[in-house]
This record gives sequence, C-alpha cells and structure tokens, in this order.
Amino acid sequence: MLEYVNIKDFKVGQRIKGVYLIKSIAVKITNSNNKKYLDITLSDKTGDINAKLWDLKEDFNNNEFVENTLVCVKGCVLSWQSIMQLKLESISNDFDRENINISDYVKCAPIDSNEMFNELHKIVSSFKNDDIRNILLEILSIKKEKLLYYPAAKSNHHSIKGGLLYHILSMIKLGEKICELYSIVNKELLFAGIILHDIEKTEEMNSSELGIVSTYTVEGQLLSHLIQGITLVDRVSSKVGASSEIRMLLQHMILSHHYEPEYGSPIKPMIIEAELLHYIDVIDARMYDMKKILDGVDEGNFSERIFSLNNRKVYKPKF
Ligand SMILES: [Fe+2]
Ligand SMILES: [Fe+2]
Repeated sequence: MLEYVNIKDFKVGQRIKGVYLIKSIAVKITNSNNKKYLDITLSDKTGDINAKLWDLKEDFNNNEFVENTLVCVKGCVLSWQSIMQLKLESISNDFDRENINISDYVKCAPIDSNEMFNELHKIVSSFKNDDIRNILLEILSIKKEKLLYYPAAKSNHHSIKGGLLYHILSMIKLGEKICELYSIVNKELLFAGIILHDIEKTEEMNSSELGIVSTYTVEGQLLSHLIQGITLVDRVSSKVGASSEIRMLLQHMILSHHYEPEYGSPIKPMIIEAELLHYIDVIDARMYDMKKILDGVDEGNFSERIFSLNNRKVYKPKF
C-alpha cells in the first residue's frame, strides 16, 4: 500500500499510487513507432505533472477519463529532459470517492474570496468620483457571485479558484505604490481600469465553482473579454447615468489593455492610466507565473520552457 504523495513532493524514482485530478488528457501517437499512448496532465493543490501511459491496448477507451475529474493512477516518477514526468502503469476510475476531499485538488487564492471581495468593495466605496464609484459598485454587485470563484485564466496566470479577484487586488496594491511615485496618475481611474480590465472573463470562460475552466463561451471566443467588457460598461453607464467621458475612458482602458492587435487590442493606450494598466497587468501575471514555475525548480537549475513566457526558461539562482 503506497501512501498518497503531493505532486510537489514527487521525487525521481519514486513509486506513486493515488487519486489526482485530470487537467488535460489526449491519446497521441509516437513519432518513432506509430504506437498510441495516453498523454495526461495530473494535478493536485500543490502542482501538476505530465504523465504518460505507453503502448495503449487497442480496446483502451479514453472517454472513460474526463478533464477536471479525479482518477486513480499508479506509476513511477522519472526525469525527462530535466523535467519530472510520471510513467503510468495503470489508470482507473475505480476508487473510494467517500474519503476524497476536493479542496485537496484545487488550488485556491491565498486569501479567502469573501475577504478579497469585501476589501475591493471598500476600496470602490471610497471613490470620490460619483460616476466611477456608481459604475463600479453596480458591476461588483452584478459580478459578486462569479468573482468569488472565477480564475483569471484557463491555464496561464492565476488559474486558481478566486484567481481573478486575487489578480485584481494584487494589481491594485501595485497601482497604489506607482501612484505614490507619479502624482500625475488619476488613482481612481487607474483602479477602475484594474477592476474592469478582465472582469468579463466571467463571461468569456465557463468555470466550475472549483475555479476550473473547461471551455470558452461562444461569445467569449467571438468577442473576447475586451469587447464584452466594453458592452458591460456601456450598459451599466447608461443605467447609472454616468458621463460619456468617464464611460469612454473606462472603455478605452479595457480595449487597449492587451496593447498589441495580435493579443486582441485594436488600439494602443492613449491615456496615462491605460498605459500603466497594461504594464501593471503584465507585471502581476509574470510574477505569478515565474513564482509558480520556480516553486518546482531546484536552486542552480532552469525550468522547462514556458509558453506563456514566450518560450523562455527561468533560472533559479543558488543564493
Ligand atoms: Fe485581459
Ligand atoms: Fe489581467
């Protein structure tokens, strides 16, 4: 009987038997000998690991195993190009579900969601500009339920339960410091842009209440959270009777926050707060990604190449 091991504690050579969450799963074919194998990413709250089940039998039915569900696996940890990988011996849905605690499998933001929401609500309530405050309070009340569990992304930065709120609050803390340095910045406008920039990810992606995104919505794919955000601000501005100038500035920040047309922004920032919003967003996403990556790297080693970091690898210094 092997004891359950958290993924972050996996060691090369270790034998593993336990229940893990399927993050992604696909049947693939080897280049070398055209044989089918199962390519799975398994996760628990401490991390994730790629796993392979080689030489699949002809009658293997991968429809039994579904993304974002739990599965019992047995195998051995090995190192492939300096990255840990699990070589599977078996995979099964036959395990005792009674004793499973789902919170062991889902990563959550380090701060309680209700606490984060209340903090955000307090910040918005203190805004002096009536239009910005009214728009934001209305949007927070519309989005409260989803904000308590939505991640900020499907698989990149802050893809954890409550990740969107955590991303927003981290950016506000960063924005606060930047505003201390540059008095030219309108803090309320910047904070409003921070809160709104990704808020329609709650409509762009379908997330379970565990904060796991399975798919993008049709509207999300056809319009993106940028355009969805603009229409949301339009609706709410009309409802609260906000000035057209404030509505336009908020919409401009949402529209330009990805900066480049190939990332979905048709125009570049043309106000100071929009320029800052973009860079604060990038800083927060990068720091989150790099920290997450380095948590799984030993000192003196490089990480694997990371797609979200333009295929760079990250080095963990020895001191
Ligand atoms: Fe965005
Ligand atoms: Fe963002």
